[in-house]
Amino acid sequence: MAKKKNSWKDHYTSRAKDEKWLARSVYKLEEIDKKYKFIKKGCRILDLGCYPGSWTQYCLKKLGNNGEIIGIDLNRPTRFKARNFRFIAADILELDPGQLAGEVGQLDAVISDLAPNTTGNSIADTARSMELVEKALEIALSVLKKEAHFLCKIFEGEDLKGFKDRVSAHFNNVRLIRPAAVRKKSREVYLIGMDMIDQNSPSKDGEIFF
Ligand SMILES: C[S@@+](CC[C@H](N)C(=O)[O-])C[C@H]1O[C@@H](n2cnc3c(N)ncnc32)[C@H](O)[C@@H]1O
Repeated sequence: MAKKKNSWKDHYTSRAKDEKWLARSVYKLEEIDKKYKFIKKGCRILDLGCYPGSWTQYCLKKLGNNGEIIGIDLNRPTRFKARNFRFIAADILELDPGQLAGEVGQLDAVISDLAPNTTGNSIADTARSMELVEKALEIALSVLKKEAHFLCKIFEGEDLKGFKDRVSAHFNNVRLIRPAAVRKKSREVYLIGMDMIDQNSPSKDGEIFF
C-alpha cells in the first residue's frame, strides 16, 4: 500500500532540516528580523515558548559572544548548548513578572512564539492563545528597557484589534505581519512593537503609566 504523504510537511520543513534548524518556525522570525532588523549584536533577549529552539538558534547566531538569550518553556531544549543561553523551565502563566525582571535584568527584546496545544475548537484555542499573549505583554513591560522591542505570535480574531491597541499604548511603532512561512490555513499572525516608550514619561495620549 502506498505510504500516505504527510501534508503537514512542506518545503520549509525540509529546508529547516537541510539547514540544521530545529524547527521551520525559524523562517518566520528570519523574515520579520530581515524587515525590522531588531535582533542585533550584543542584545539580551527573552524567548518565550523557546522549545525546540530554532528562534534561540537564530538569535544566538546574530547576538555574538557578548549577547545573551534567556529561554522559557514547559519543555527544555536539549539539542544545542551555548554559553550565552540560559533556560528557565516554567509555565509562563504562573510567573510573577516582577520577580522575573529581578532575575533577568533589563532586556533589549522579548520574542514570543508561545502556542497552546490546540483542541480544534477555534473559540477555545483563540481564548487560550490570548491568555498567553496577554501574559507575554505583561512580562515584556516588566523586563524591557526603554526603546526595546516586543514580538509575539497571535491568532486573528475579534480580540486582535484590542490587543494591538494595548501594545500601541506602550510602543511607538506597531505592525502586524503574516510571514510567508505561516501555513495557508493558519490564523496566526505576528505583532511587533518597536521602540518601547519610557513607562514614566507621558504616553501618546498624554497619560502617565504606573
Ligand atoms: C510553536 S512552539 C515554539 C517554537 C520555537 N519558537 C522554535 O522556534 O523552536 C510553542 C511553544 O510554546 C510553549 N508553551 C505553550 N504554553 C506555554 C506556557 N504556558 N508556558 C511556557 N511555555 C509554553 C510550548 O511548550 C511550545 O514549546
